[in-house]
Amino acid sequence: MRALTVAPLQRNSLEVSEVADPRAGEGELLVDGLALGVCGTDREIAEGNYGWAPPGHDRLVIGHESLGRVRAAPPGSSFAPGDLVAGVVRRPDPVPCGACAHGEFDMCRNGRYRERGIKELDGYASEAWTVEQDYAVKLDAHLAEVGVLMEPTSVVAKAWEQVFDVGRRAWFEPERALVTGAGPIGLLAALLGVQRGLEVHVLDRITDGPKPTLVEKLSADYHTDSVDEVTKKIRPDVVIEATGVGQVVFGAIAGLDPYGIVCLTGVSPVGRKLTVDAGSLNREIVLENNVVVGSVNANQSHFAAAAAALAKADLDWLKGLITRRIALDRFADAFDRGDTDVKVVLELNAA
Ligand code: BGC
Repeated sequence: MRALTVAPLQRNSLEVSEVADPRAGEGELLVDGLALGVCGTDREIAEGNYGWAPPGHDRLVIGHESLGRVRAAPPGSSFAPGDLVAGVVRRPDPVPCGACAHGEFDMCRNGRYRERGIKELDGYASEAWTVEQDYAVKLDAHLAEVGVLMEPTSVVAKAWEQVFDVGRRAWFEPERALVTGAGPIGLLAALLGVQRGLEVHVLDRITDGPKPTLVEKLSADYHTDSVDEVTKKIRPDVVIEATGVGQVVFGAIAGLDPYGIVCLTGVSPVGRKLTVDAGSLNREIVLENNVVVGSVNANQSHFAAAAAALAKADLDWLKGLITRRIALDRFADAFDRGDTDVKVVLELNAA
């Protein structure tokens, strides 16, 4: 079968390779791959800047934003042939650390976790794949065209959970949320904010393409002014930061209302320097009981929350997030990101 593979840390090594057909081990599902979302991490891997092949191998099957249809399930399984499923990305470290031992591998303490398509485990960019039943999440049958959004949705489901867990340390009834960045993570974070009943504002630089309309269709407000101007105007209780851009990150922290929470989800390149007034930032965080919390990855509970959030979202709105669908053979086009793209998806079994 065909799979999209890469030799990690080698530029220009991404290619469609012929690999052995997968065979389901005990307790595993055999799944026909339908679609695969491409994100910044995949582009970093493709550029030779990130990623680890499985031990003893030179190449890694890339891909962690999965969607497939079950071809075969073990007897007595809660899955059946035909079910739509997404695979969880991360697996616990082998030690395991305390968090991984408690099923919270998204909070791994020793960094030895593995991730499908990223770190030491083959990913989901293949015509078929297997997955342990415990790491597969079922999707509502009507989500066949958009279920590929599960993984990024799981990431924002965790981010929102973090915000409310942190908020619960005292009285917390947030009203206004600012989401910085209108990429897939930002837009899905906005969706989940609206679903939680908040007044949501989204900040991005882009003025054309589908982003402003997608935000308006959520009954949220789209802003293109600076983060300082926008926070002054709307005074957010919560910020979900999805750009990873230093100025936006620090602007968001400085612009919080008292008892505000900024959740950082954007992974930024290292080495970018910025001058900040550290005294003023520290002073404000202390005097206002503010919190800055980082959030990465997602465990099964967040995938389940994502499946529920997608099931109740407007299907046409979700379809609008997928701006290009590209056949596996033309993968290079999918890794080229257009300014007005939201989510680009590879089709794994396109005729
Ligand atoms: C994925 C996460 C993963 C992270 C770091 C992100 O793109 O969505 O699941 O933990 O990369 O590898």
